[in-house]
Amino acid sequence: MARFMVMAVAALCLAAGPAWAQKIEQGTMKRTSASDGPGMFNAYCASCHGLDATGTGPAAKALTKAPADLTRITARNGGTFPEIKIRRYIEGADEIAAHGSRDMPVWSTLFRSMDPGTVPLRIQALSDFLKSIQK
Ligand code: HEC
Repeated sequence: MARFMVMAVAALCLAAGPAWAQKIEQGTMKRTSASDGPGMFNAYCASCHGLDATGTGPAAKALTKAPADLTRITARNGGTFPEIKIRRYIEGADEIAAHGSRDMPVWSTLFRSMDPGTVPLRIQALSDFLKSIQK
């Protein structure tokens, strides 16, 4: 739990890139298996999106924009889970190029610093997990 909170705080310091990069270098980002979608969700996403993924995690209050309800992605997209869009959103590269910053961490960068070579596998496992929890 302590590590989890460190991660949440690190994630909130999005603008201060070097601060969280440093935390990750120090090994405070919880280690997870790259194929464990639910495990990664609990470790990295639940602080904002909530353990039930509806957007009510403990760190949500501190954000300017409310974290999305991740159980209703399919409902918001006319009944189809937009897999490619969601993978790209989690990766984050497009967003940063377009807008400079966002409240949601750039997971491709974080995963690359923690465990190089597993980024596509991790993003896929997270996307598959989200697809499996649609209401
Ligand atoms: C620091 C808080 C925070 C953390 C941690 C976080 N998110 Fe988010 N996430 C957000 C916010 C805020 C939004 C809404 C952003 C917006 O609409 O601009 C969002 C939006 C999303 C969306 C877009 C949903 C849609 O319908 O477009 C996806 C997918 C998502 N998050 C997945 C994840 C995953 C997977 C993780 C963990 C690897 C994660 N998030 C961790 C804050 C967070």
